Amino acid sequence: MSNTAAPFAALRPPPLPRRLRDMLSLDDFERAARRHLPRPIFGYIEGATESNSALRHSRSAFAAHAFVPNVLVDTGERHARTRVMGLDFAQPFGLAPMGGSALAAYRGDVVLAQAAEAAGLPAILSGASLIAMEDVARAAPSAWFQAYLPGEEARIVPLVERAKRAGYGTLVLTVDVAVLPNRENNVRTGFSMPLNPTPRLAWDCATRPRWLLGTFGRTLLNHGMPHIENMDAVRGVPIVSRNFVRQLGARDRLTWAHVALMRRLWPGKLVVKGILAAEDARRAAEHGVDGIIVSNHGGRQLDFAVAPLQVLPGIVAAAGDMPVMLDGGVRRGTDVLKALALGAAFVFVGRPMLYAASIGGQAGVAHAIGLLAEEIRRGMALLGTPTLSDLGPHMLVKPD
Ligand code: FNR
Repeated sequence: MSNTAAPFAALRPPPLPRRLRDMLSLDDFERAARRHLPRPIFGYIEGATESNSALRHSRSAFAAHAFVPNVLVDTGERHARTRVMGLDFAQPFGLAPMGGSALAAYRGDVVLAQAAEAAGLPAILSGASLIAMEDVARAAPSAWFQAYLPGEEARIVPLVERAKRAGYGTLVLTVDVAVLPNRENNVRTGFSMPLNPTPRLAWDCATRPRWLLGTFGRTLLNHGMPHIENMDAVRGVPIVSRNFVRQLGARDRLTWAHVALMRRLWPGKLVVKGILAAEDARRAAEHGVDGIIVSNHGGRQLDFAVAPLQVLPGIVAAAGDMPVMLDGGVRRGTDVLKALALGAAFVFVGRPMLYAASIGGQAGVAHAIGLLAEEIRRGMALLGTPTLSDLGPHMLVKPD
């Protein structure tokens, strides 16, 4: 072998594990996860609320926009690096917070955060996660933390102190969860919180032996029964506990006064997630929030909530200098580029990343991230936009 071959061989990515080779797009992970996960767990991730209309609309809003590209632009030097809220990222997307991730993937929250960190992207740890926020911060120091604020101030202050002590620099407040949603689909597939160990659940799990041994069994063996870890300053109840619902606190009592309180308590970046009204974006800016995420919670809270992409331009206009991010239905590089063209500073991807973690662990998430990054890169060349700031609403039309 010649001496020059070695450095090039070192640059070549390692071959993909076999189960990832057929994953050519983010949607492929969903199909694979459907086969890998027990029905109730797949249904919990895939589903939304009531008629699933908010979920469907989020996707169709992307489909309703078409590109008008520019040709013969030199895009040989294109890059997708992005700066948002003074933070630098390798791509204009990150990983959305998802509660219960460790049920779908072994050490799910750690796997998601580490894959994001390795790719130079942010991952948001959910407040409804089953791994202690300290463990995730140690594994991925640039992760963000998403808090579900209990309505009671006496519980809020110690939770914020804990996130500070754990070393988080960015705190995300999810504000579209006044009450628990009506997720009929969870009832239909047999998913519940607390988990209700019925014969049917046992059967559903037994028919997915790779998940049963590789995810759930391995978790029980190495870490014991998962607990709700990050809702409060102290560890919460196990996921089979009857007290689970009572721990949520009076979220329907939360108001903008709580955002003002958080702004006083939190010295780092403060992000509000779950904004859909331009008026609320304006209020967030008035409260000194560093950024907002336009989101309908993946269609999982209010059914028929408007598609985030549809209200994005109005929100960007109302937000002034405050960065506006978006999530919900982002599945393709072209979706990312559409959101950026309509004024989003950054986007987040939810479900596909958790499916990727469930079937392929950290390598699966890294592969999903790579696919999306490659689609963005290809899309930028075909659009004639060497940098992301070349994108604008003039590149989109809405065919009838
Ligand atoms: C979520 N989402 C969510 N959001 C949040 O702020 N805190 C949370 O704990 C959760 N939990 C959660 C669990 C699961 C299984 C899913 C699928 C979603 C919503 C999530 O952050 C994001 O808003 C949407 O998932 C984005 O839509 P897509 O990309 O999944 O279509």
